[in-house]
Amino acid sequence: MASDKKDEPKSRRDFLNLTAGAMGAVGIGSAVVPLIDSMNPAADTLAMSTTEVDISNIAVGETKVVKWQGKPVFIKHRTAEEIAEAKDINLDDLRDPQTDTERVQKEQWLVVIGICTHLGCIPQGNKSGQPKGDFEGWFCPCHGSHYDTSGRLRAGPAPKNLPVPPYSFLSDTLIRIG
Ligand code: FES
Repeated sequence: MASDKKDEPKSRRDFLNLTAGAMGAVGIGSAVVPLIDSMNPAADTLAMSTTEVDISNIAVGETKVVKWQGKPVFIKHRTAEEIAEAKDINLDDLRDPQTDTERVQKEQWLVVIGICTHLGCIPQGNKSGQPKGDFEGWFCPCHGSHYDTSGRLRAGPAPKNLPVPPYSFLSDTLIRIG
């Protein structure tokens, strides 16, 4: 009995220590989880890093505009005439020389970021009635840059061609951008 009494305060102290330790662990645990959580990319950020696009419904001659990482991407289903125009070029005439072959994976499909390389306006030419510029691609009305059917800069103040984003064909009718 005497030893029980002597042990009682110690047991009580152990219990309190254990409880305090457990509470501390819970506190640390709950602090660590948000920290680790904040180090993982948010699900919506991951979703935005790639975009899959069904291209089966883009008729020949039409362009679909999709958003990728907050930017407009033009997916143009080129006509045979537009492809021929894109290929028929003297590279010496280009400010940003690139062959059409360097810019496409399948010649009927052109995929470009639709942001003018001058000061960032969105060029026109995707909808009927909009000006396509002197080279039948796109026209940026902000300061008059003309892009051809390969999205290359042909006239105006823009310094570069419309950029080609990273993309791949997942099938004949589905592409993944990013
Ligand atoms: S932003 Fe397109 S020409 Fe200036």
